[in-house]
Amino acid sequence: MAKPKVFVTRVILDQGMSLISGFCDADVWLGELPPGREVILERGRGVHGLLCLLTDTIDGEMMEALGPQLKVISNHAVGYDNIDVACATARGIPVGHTPGILTDATADMAFALMMAAGRRLVEGDRLVRNDGWKTWSPSFMLGADFAGATLGIVGFGRIGRAVARRATGFGMRILHYDPCPAVPEPGVAAESADLDTLLRAADFVSIHTPLNSKTRHLVNAAFLAKMKPTSILINTARGPIVDQKALHDALKTHRIFAAGLDVTDPEPLPGDSPLLELDNLVLCPHIASASWAARARMSLLAAENLIAGLKGERLPHCVNPEIYPARPHDR
Ligand code: DGY
Repeated sequence: MAKPKVFVTRVILDQGMSLISGFCDADVWLGELPPGREVILERGRGVHGLLCLLTDTIDGEMMEALGPQLKVISNHAVGYDNIDVACATARGIPVGHTPGILTDATADMAFALMMAAGRRLVEGDRLVRNDGWKTWSPSFMLGADFAGATLGIVGFGRIGRAVARRATGFGMRILHYDPCPAVPEPGVAAESADLDTLLRAADFVSIHTPLNSKTRHLVNAAFLAKMKPTSILINTARGPIVDQKALHDALKTHRIFAAGLDVTDPEPLPGDSPLLELDNLVLCPHIASASWAARARMSLLAAENLIAGLKGERLPHCVNPEIYPARPHDR
């Protein structure tokens, strides 16, 4: 029997790649940069499955062009704002994603950015390398304290709660804000707060919400104006959640102390972005999930979702389960 045809928009780690090659007739984009819309349209036309990355925009027009035989879209990411899920649902196409397995890696990164921005690690490194450090001095390069500080977590899902676990070990007070009812986190004393209260009290604010119409530019001038002048903003979620012009102004005028961004809008930032000139901003190239184990498990899960969809089975991690008939325990 002929193997199902799939288009894979980038080489993924071996764990997932070997599963896919065993089951599918896979066309894999080998480029270093994303294939781009035209290539996906051309090479994806007629496939039964598409494995894509967060750098690929999969909208309704794309689904239409790929053809009615398309049985599954598997996103190699937990976030899925690059896919028009409503369109996929209307077409009965399940969309897979990779939750859970990158929670710890992402929470580690949020904490790493908190420490790097709060204790000025990158600024210090630059100073040492550029021969700018002259001597030890009592008031030299002072930064934030962690023990006893208040951490405000915006979005208290899996990753937000994992950040709270880490903050507990550092002796921090934790406030969280989430429009959805919070799932209690055992061993963590975190208090729920409205967003204003959180912003006014927090020494660190860490963003862990998905990107959607409600969270786009959630971090704007008004949001930043409520934060303490000594506070630090961290974003490991999605770039467009932060209004970068407002953040630039807040950092430049020292309205807030510092920020750490693993995600920006766009990615990468253009070479003339004013953000690149700020010393009180730590920037990373969207690597929060880039630990060996997390990326290996992501590739495996993305492959498992793809293959389940090709077999007509329920995806292990489906973003739009409403396309399936309800099971007794779903009600
Ligand atoms: C995701 O999975 O959504 C991350 O942003 C990339 O790992």
